[in-house]
Amino acid sequence: MQKITIAIDGFSSTGKSTVAKQLAKHLGYIYVDTGAMYRAVTLFTMQNGWIDNDQFDVASLVTNLDKVTINFKFNPELGFAEVYLNGANVEREIRTLEVSSYVSKVAAIPEVRYQLVKQQQLMGKDKGVVMDGRDIGTVVFPYAELKLFMTASADKRATRRFDELISRGDIVKYEDVLRNVQERDYIDSHREDSPLVKADDAIEIDNSDLTLEAQFQKILSLVNKTLEKLA
Ligand code: DC
Repeated sequence: MQKITIAIDGFSSTGKSTVAKQLAKHLGYIYVDTGAMYRAVTLFTMQNGWIDNDQFDVASLVTNLDKVTINFKFNPELGFAEVYLNGANVEREIRTLEVSSYVSKVAAIPEVRYQLVKQQQLMGKDKGVVMDGRDIGTVVFPYAELKLFMTASADKRATRRFDELISRGDIVKYEDVLRNVQERDYIDSHREDSPLVKADDAIEIDNSDLTLEAQFQKILSLVNKTLEKLA
């Protein structure tokens, strides 16, 4: 059976990774969470003290980018690949609100994007990949056979992210999560390099009122239609 590239873009907390993981499992494809890669570079920047509320030392980050190695390793218990930064599993650390509050700034740096996009293109070179992010259908794989653009209201998205953080034991306020979601929407869609935009040929999925199962079935039928067209 022919393999395709599935590009999933959209605002933060629109459930991109949930559906991407479901699809990858169902199709036997590789799943790549590109947001995790930008988060890992952000964690590296924080570990070196180059970013905090008052400053961002872009020059030091850029000069030291060659010291960042990001890998994914499949965890059979979880059923997906976890992200490693310079050999250490950072899957949990990269999901904190603190990392979320800096990641859009780090992701706006062209040198960071250049490095990560190169790696992403390599990971998907044999197709059979589901990749989610902000620029997958526009920059990383402009020729992807299927492009999805996920949306949902800011309130629904903040509620989902808030529930997720609380369920893993983080102490956060809903207002802070909502503000972070809105700030990231703004920075991600207004940056100069590869801003978040819907590709002309992407199919928009608003999942504000869709159950996970309904969304999965809807997207799976789009995958099947794409595969039929290519057969
Ligand atoms: O999907 P996420 O929320 O984990 O992504 C974290 C941040 O990384 C997001 O605010 C924007 C950035 N990002 C990006 O600029 N390009 C991508 N392909 C993926 C994520």
